[in-house]
Amino acid sequence: MSNEVKTIAVLTSGGDAPGMNAAIRAVVRTGIAKGINVKGILRGYAGLLNEEIIDMDTKSVADIIERGGTILYTARSKYFATDEGHEEGAAILKKHGIDGLVVIGGDGSFKGAQGLSHLGINTIGIPGTIDLDIACTDYTIGFDTAVNTAMEAIDKIRDTSTSHERCSVIEVMGRNAGYIALWCGIANGAEDILLPEKYDGDVDKLIEHIKETKKKGKKHHIVINAEGIGHSQELAERIEKETGMETRATILGHLQRGGSPTCKDRVYASIMGAYAVDLLADGKTNRVVAYKDGKYVDFEVDEALSMEKSISEYEYNISKNLAR
Ligand code: F6P
Repeated sequence: MSNEVKTIAVLTSGGDAPGMNAAIRAVVRTGIAKGINVKGILRGYAGLLNEEIIDMDTKSVADIIERGGTILYTARSKYFATDEGHEEGAAILKKHGIDGLVVIGGDGSFKGAQGLSHLGINTIGIPGTIDLDIACTDYTIGFDTAVNTAMEAIDKIRDTSTSHERCSVIEVMGRNAGYIALWCGIANGAEDILLPEKYDGDVDKLIEHIKETKKKGKKHHIVINAEGIGHSQELAERIEKETGMETRATILGHLQRGGSPTCKDRVYASIMGAYAVDLLADGKTNRVVAYKDGKYVDFEVDEALSMEKSISEYEYNISKNLAR
């Protein structure tokens, strides 16, 4: 089976994430090591439909492992998600002699890969998102860098917050998932952590907590607010009005998506990239690479998409006990 695929391609799809370049590099160099031709598709599925396909060689991925973003660029394509989009995409891949495709992205990108797989293209997904919200895996490319970036930024806000004896509401990314908020909340020693999965919307209770910690002599009050809850500015204004404590809102935003990947993101992304090519070389298709319970594994796309995960109750309770 090892000669099954002769030419493979790699694309990045959805939001970029630090470490994607390490995964692209691993796909290209592992493919070449196995005697497989490797191409790159620019701008995700949108670029595939525009036939933005380039040849890749060892040199084309030199000096990228330490760079954030994705050298292949990325995009979101609504049209590609349709049956017609899948058919057009598969026809273009076949026209270019591409029989295997590695897709680095999130759940939506894996559905696209599944559509192509049903049309005869061998596809493998790699989880790439800073949000950590892919159920089949305990690790997603970019999360580690993003939480470290956010943590450093929050440390800085904490300094000025303490000097002015202020409350700071700091909004972190994560779409509807609270993993970045939870990790930063613990790592930054925040007084309150608001997660979409847990927050009951009780602002009065939050305000009471801020008043209590102020009475105890705390010199600042850090509230980490997840993007999925949002409304940080409104929340800050209400806190200031009802507690009398000067309050500032900071939305960290896209700075969390950039920057040089951490060691962990470089290494895990490299292994996942190589693993994806190993699967293609073994004739596998319609699978997602994952890191689960300390091991690199792979799941069939439907199985991966049917899995669920949420914030650990145990970790959440710890975060609450530490935030006093
Ligand atoms: O999925 C990654 C992510 O950064 C989310 O945390 C955020 O909700 C979203 O992408 C932002 O998307 P965009 O870059 O299109 O504004």
